[in-house]
Order: sequence, then C-alpha cells, then structure tokens
Amino acid sequence: MPGVVVVGSQWGDEGKGKITDYLSSKADVVVRYQGGNNAGHTIEFNNQKYALRLVPSGIFSGNPVVLGNGMVINPKALLEEIKYLNDANINTSKILISDRAHVILPYHLEIDALQEKYRGDKNIGTTKKGIGPTYVDKYARIGIRMGEFVNEELFKERLAEVLPLKKREYPELDFSVEGIFEEYKEYAKIIKPMVCDTALVLDEAFENKKNILFEGAQGTMLDIDYGTYPYVTSSHPGANGVCEGAGVGPVMIDEAIGIVKAYTTRVGSGAFPTEIEGEIANTIREVGREYGTVTKRPRRIGWFDAVVVNQSRRMSGLTGISLMLLDVLTGVEELSICTAYTLDGKVIHALPSTISELDRVQPVLETMPGWSEDITTVTSFAELPENCKKYLHRIEELIKCPIVMFSVGPDRTQTIVLKEVF
Ligand code: IMP
Repeated sequence: MPGVVVVGSQWGDEGKGKITDYLSSKADVVVRYQGGNNAGHTIEFNNQKYALRLVPSGIFSGNPVVLGNGMVINPKALLEEIKYLNDANINTSKILISDRAHVILPYHLEIDALQEKYRGDKNIGTTKKGIGPTYVDKYARIGIRMGEFVNEELFKERLAEVLPLKKREYPELDFSVEGIFEEYKEYAKIIKPMVCDTALVLDEAFENKKNILFEGAQGTMLDIDYGTYPYVTSSHPGANGVCEGAGVGPVMIDEAIGIVKAYTTRVGSGAFPTEIEGEIANTIREVGREYGTVTKRPRRIGWFDAVVVNQSRRMSGLTGISLMLLDVLTGVEELSICTAYTLDGKVIHALPSTISELDRVQPVLETMPGWSEDITTVTSFAELPENCKKYLHRIEELIKCPIVMFSVGPDRTQTIVLKEVF
C-alpha cells in the first residue's frame, strides 16, 4: 500500500505539477496537504497547458482528489478553478475537501496586503492570497473551517464572532458580516457536497491497499520552521507536513520524492546564497520560462545548491529526487555547483537559522564543463551527453540521494523515469 509524497525541494516552482501528474496516473487518490492558491502547478500534455492552484494534479486522471485539512482554501478561487477545469472538459466531480481545512475570507487578503505594506522594504513578497493571515487565525483559534463554512447558520455565527476581532486588530478593514455572508454563502452551497472527513477516506484507501499520492506545494526552503525564516510561507511544504495536513500517520509514507531544479530559483524576498545576475541568469530565466505562475513575477536565478537540497533530504527523508529542467542548462559553457557555504570565514554544510547569518553566507562553488547538445528528445540516461551525465552524478553524490527521474522539457513525454515509485 504505497504512500508516496512529492515535495518541492528548493524554493518552490520546481515543476512538481509535472511529476505529480505523471505519478497520479498510477495513484488511486491524490492529496494536497498544505498551502492554498499561492501555489501554481503547470501541467502540459497534448499541446495543452493547464495551471492549477488548489486542485491536486490528479484531477486529470479522473481519480478522487483530496484537499486536506492542512490547506487554506479560498472558496471563490476554488470555484473559479473548477469552472476553468470544466470549461476544458475536465471532470471535477471527485473533489473532496476536508471539513477541517481553513477558509480564506476577503479580510485575510486585505490583511496580507496591509502587512506587506507596513513591513516596507522588509516585506516578505507574499503572493497576497491571504495565506499567512489565514494560518494565523487557525493557530489563534479564530479560523473558520470548511465544516462550519458550509453550514449557513454556523458560518454566520462564526463570522459575527471573528470579524469584530479582526477589525479591532486592523481598523482599516472595511467589511461587514452581512456583506461577506451574502456573497460567500452562495459559494458554500456549491462547495458543500465536496466537504467531508477526508482522513476517513484516506484511512479506507490505505486499508484497501490503494496507491496514495501526497502532493506538496511550494518548496522546503519556504517551510515555516526549516526554511529561510521569516521569508517563508506559513505551512510545511515538505513530507514533514503530510501527517498533520492530511490526517495520516508517518508509517503511511513509503517514498518521499524531492522535486529539484537542475539550477535554483526563488521568487519574493530573502536570502539566496547561489543567486546570479547577468547574461547567464537572463538566459536561464527566458529558456526556463522562469516567471511566477500566480504572480507572473520574474524569478531570481542561481546555481544548483547542494546545501539547500541536503536540508530538504533531511527534513523530508527523501528517498529519491526528480531533476527538472535539465534542458534549460544546455549551452551554458561552465556550470557551477554550490557544495557548502562559508559563514564569517568558516565552512558550514547546513543553512544557519537566522536571516542575518543567511545574508552573510557565501557559496563554495565548484565548476564543471557544460554541454551543448540538444537533450530534449533523449529517452534514457545513456543518451545524455557525457558532461551532463557527470553533472547528474555529482549532484547525486553531493545530496546523498539517487536521481529517480529527470525531465528534459515541459511535455509529459519528456520525463525519463529511472526507477518507478508506485
Ligand atoms: P505566501 O505563501 O503568499 O505567504 O508567500 C510567502 C513566500 O512564499 C513568498 O516569498 C512567496 O513568493 C513564496 N511562495 C508562496 N507560494 C509559492 C509557490 O508556489 N512557489 C514559489 N514561491 C512561493
């Protein structure tokens, strides 16, 4: 009864959508366990490109998909996404939403924007989707959960309780209970049939020896505890988030696959030790189409950072990685890999905990010759150019984890599987 988790192992945008799409064809259930519509998963097949934010990639295989209790869900965004999928003739009748997932309401979005404004030049660079403020309410025990949201009476009651508290905190908020209720109760009616205790669904699936795929959003460097705090998201994108965010136990995870770009990118503010600027960065950005799916912001570009991926391996107990966007590096004459950092002259192999130290770390880089051959049509490891093979081997050695898949282009067919996980 394999449970497989796929996690972004850098700062997000590693191409998880593509791998979860591939693996979901072998899974019976696909589950998202954290985050919300701050995520943007792009999936391409049959010359069509789909962008998902909330709905797990498994939706394209026609299997049940679960939005777990660890998620924060904007009902309006969810319904827009469902409409977008239906317009593309994708069946959305098997979406299940945890009754314990928290609901993002308009004041959360407003608070996100206000907080960013007040932080000034120390702003996080959030997606402004209300993610952080909704998790804040969850832990402050004033959140509204799906189970309450879809019960009209309860929803109104909770809203009347919570909104005054939020207004006391943020007097700028210009919302009324009636205003939100009248609009959102209509969304709740449509969502209601999808809401249930999804942990029970997963337990039954495990009992029946079904394949379960847990789909992480964002990346482990954005983890609220182990990421580059405070420039992080407010959840646990790694395998460490599965138990709390899906309502399952740790023994239900057999494999943890880290999705890793062949280089590194980051959106938003915060430390980025291997960041590069200039011609190579611009080329990688254009070839790799490195612009945010949600916010369209240009992504910052950097060399492969083994310190980052090793941290992800430790946090998630990675059993393998899928190396993405390898083709984007074709034509870069000399590649650099970060093997360690120096902090105030001392070599270190893990990310320090404070942002002030993170800002001071310098990457220890080694260089390798690149390759110029087109690799977009290769179908096996053996067909890769020698320098490319060496690059992959060096990465495996540094991160102490095997490459089980690699990707040489956006299409489904351009994923080369070296080891099946289901
Ligand atoms: P939030 O998740 O909107 O609160 O944003 C917090 C940080 O996480 C910001 O730096 C965002 O750019 C980043 N972030 C959130 N979601 C994603 C994602 O899906 N990919 C990459 N970065 C993300």
